[in-house]
Amino acid sequence: MDLFEYQARDVFEKHGVPVLRGIVATTPEEAEAAARELLPADGGVVVVKAQVKTGGRGKAGGVKIARSAEEARERATEILGMDIKGHTVHRVMIAEGAAIAEEYYFSVLLDRSERRYLAMCSVEGGMEIEQLAVERPEALARVAVDPLVGIDEAKAREIVETAGFAEELRQPVADVIRTLWTVFTAEDATLVEVNPLVRTEDGSIVALDGKVTLDDNASEVRHPEHAELEDAQATDPLEAKAKAHGLNYVKLDGEVGIIGNGAGLVMSTLDVVAYAGEAHGGVKPANFLDIGGGANAQVMADGLDVILHDPQVKSVFVNVFGGITACDEVAKGIVGALEILGDEATKPLVVRLDGNNVELGRKILADANHPLVTLAETMDGGADKAAELANA
Ligand SMILES: Nc1ncnc2c1ncn2[C@@H]1O[C@H](COP(=O)(O)OP(=O)(O)OP(=O)(O)O)[C@@H](O)[C@H]1O
Ligand SMILES: [Mg+2]
Repeated sequence: MDLFEYQARDVFEKHGVPVLRGIVATTPEEAEAAARELLPADGGVVVVKAQVKTGGRGKAGGVKIARSAEEARERATEILGMDIKGHTVHRVMIAEGAAIAEEYYFSVLLDRSERRYLAMCSVEGGMEIEQLAVERPEALARVAVDPLVGIDEAKAREIVETAGFAEELRQPVADVIRTLWTVFTAEDATLVEVNPLVRTEDGSIVALDGKVTLDDNASEVRHPEHAELEDAQATDPLEAKAKAHGLNYVKLDGEVGIIGNGAGLVMSTLDVVAYAGEAHGGVKPANFLDIGGGANAQVMADGLDVILHDPQVKSVFVNVFGGITACDEVAKGIVGALEILGDEATKPLVVRLDGNNVELGRKILADANHPLVTLAETMDGGADKAAELANA
């Protein structure tokens, strides 16, 4: 999960990285109030910054200076609603203005192919860093970080020396880099980037912008608090509902809803349905949904609940191979789910069961004789029937 700049700022602050104060606003009025709070009595400036999860905000006109609260309100009016590389600006951050003497660059990220971390640092940071990396790669220090050692004092010194910091800046910058490494490890991040890291006119080193990517694999168990950082506005409502039910669901573009058990079987089902769809008006799978091992009635109902509320879905293909979960349990699950859903179940279901206790499973479905359910003998046959129904 990528964080917004204001969230990265909060995380930095929590771990002791020097940052400036910042207040999020979603309306021009809130921006004005925030600026009033942040503007020093003796003049000074605030910066109004678009909060979108993409780079190049400054160049797109999404970062503007304001000298008064009224001006902050005007800048916020311009920036809110702006489109930056396909991202609509719903929030701005009003940040304290820094008196910048120099802009530097620092990042540390997971280098999967080398199985270690990579730190990058430059004394020429700022908005042209991408260009710098292409045109003068030697100006961007790249230092490998051993995951077992991390960025200790010696590694931090190596980074600032390779980047070419003047002697008197090496220690203060190295200290901030070590704190950023604490953020990286403590939060289970895969990227921490600060551009610009600045030296202010009074000589402090401050992180003026932050990009943080958190490792989603660490969220559930190690960082339940990261759930609060999720951007509810951006999440697909069906995916959010599936997540709330603990289901592995990914929304796709097609018309045939898919439910299966086991990621491998579900993926093959997607392929088979896409292939079958070629003969039925080009219909395609509408989603990936793996109900996993314990497919009881409630899990099946939750899965059907999500899929049947996808307006694009015209038919559903349930493809289950009974292993540890026997087919009769799955069949009871389907019958139970249709009872739970009642009138909400309106789309035809094709069910293919095989494996453990398949005869009993099929019998349960045949006896229930639900008008929406069609039994299929094979996976190919089921895919074909579901595609045909979706195209009807
Ligand atoms: N709080 C601040 N005070 C003074 N100047 C700032 C402040 N924040 C940003 N700036 C200036 O604006 C420039 C752009 O800001 P920032 O780095 O946050 O956005 P960006 O780099 O354009 O966006 P992105 O990092 O998404 O590409 C900075 O390089 C800096 O010169
Ligand atoms: Mg930046």
